[in-house]
Amino acid sequence: MPANRTSVHGQWSSRWMFILAATGSAVGLGNIWRFPYITAENGGGAFVLIYLVCIVLVGFPIMMSEILLGRRGRRSPIHTMETLAKEEGRSRHWRLVGVMGVFTGFFILAFYSIVAGWTLAYMVRAASGMFAGAGAQETGEIFAALVSDPERLLAWHTIFMIMTVFVVSRGVKQGLEQAVSYLMPALFLLLLFLVGYSMTTSGFATALSYLFRPDFSQIGPSTVLVALGQAFFSLSLGIGAVMTYGAYLSDNAHIPRTTVTIGILDTSVALLAGLAIFPIMFTFGLQPEEGGPGLIFKILPIAFGQMAYGNVLAFIFFTLLMFAAWTSSLSLLEPVTAWLVEKTSYSRMRAAISAGVVAWVLGLGSLLSLNLWSEATLFGMTFFGFVEYLSVNIMLPVGGLFIAVFAAWFMSRSATFAELRLGNKAYLAWKVAARFIAPAGVILILLQELFGFLG
Ligand code: TRP
Repeated sequence: MPANRTSVHGQWSSRWMFILAATGSAVGLGNIWRFPYITAENGGGAFVLIYLVCIVLVGFPIMMSEILLGRRGRRSPIHTMETLAKEEGRSRHWRLVGVMGVFTGFFILAFYSIVAGWTLAYMVRAASGMFAGAGAQETGEIFAALVSDPERLLAWHTIFMIMTVFVVSRGVKQGLEQAVSYLMPALFLLLLFLVGYSMTTSGFATALSYLFRPDFSQIGPSTVLVALGQAFFSLSLGIGAVMTYGAYLSDNAHIPRTTVTIGILDTSVALLAGLAIFPIMFTFGLQPEEGGPGLIFKILPIAFGQMAYGNVLAFIFFTLLMFAAWTSSLSLLEPVTAWLVEKTSYSRMRAAISAGVVAWVLGLGSLLSLNLWSEATLFGMTFFGFVEYLSVNIMLPVGGLFIAVFAAWFMSRSATFAELRLGNKAYLAWKVAARFIAPAGVILILLQELFGFLG
């Protein structure tokens, strides 16, 4: 039985639009910027394998939970949790899951917008032909010059935040639906093209075994946690972003099939990014683990610099990466904007601007930690490193844990069964995964990290 609520924010025009928007949210810097350097820092193949296990066993059941809660509640995460908890006779405090999601979303935006700013800066650098013939030394210097310059970073960060606020203020349906339907396929094609180029380089075979032959001696104490965090981050889970998008999904869309489609698209883009980047590194004799957050910005330009029309391709690539980041950041700002619209008398425009200003100010912290404040550390991390670590590795898994627990333990069977529309066996599989496997995985991994932390 559907709950017969409607969203005040409107609805996607079709199930495909939801898939595109959710894939637009999922596919972003996480796939193309973060996945390669995190994989490199964690030794390659074994990390990739653990990551894939996390996507399927933890990511899928939680994504289904988020969408089903969102569609049933049809409001922003805080209000959806409140509405559903009340309807199911549960504690009001479940709304705190939504509150935590808002905070986490801000933390993520604080570093996301900075890196998205790099993609804008790189569009300009590509267009001006800076990469032509550049070797590893030169591309390293180009990157260092950017991040050590607070004024430049500030300009790009501000522009990107304005772009994000602009689209969110118009409502997700207008503009965004159109944009993602062209941009996501284009990004896919360009990635395939880059992989094609990488296949011709001498490092391709090394890269293949680096990515797909697990070497478990490379696994460190935190590897599993990092893989789990990356799975949440890449699928946009744990803060109610997908829940918010689910609130705009029509009642007849099939949630599990939709989830699998989004998951496959998202994972393919991450793996393709790895197959585009690592061969180039091995070909040029570069050590993957030394790249850090600047990895793709230092590596891909080397390849572009060697190709015919490399500058044009580089420009297209960074433009698409920027669009991928843009469609993702929308889903970071939308939940809190929707909440403000529901809660206050704010117009959508005013709500989006208010949220954007908060995210912009937090972003200044990560921006300065790359240069002027690079010596200042929290728990041995810079501000940038700290917000990234805390939000991705801790807060997303914890948020996802509560979402799964609420959906699978505290919602009535009739409600979740009606939303998921699975056969009895498949429904049972979801329930076991969301009740036991995903929560146990998150708890064990977090405990292990805690004990490591305590020494
Ligand atoms: N999934 C996006 C990426 O891979 C980032 C992102 C967008 C996100 N919205 C989110 C991460 C919500 C966690 C929660 O780049």
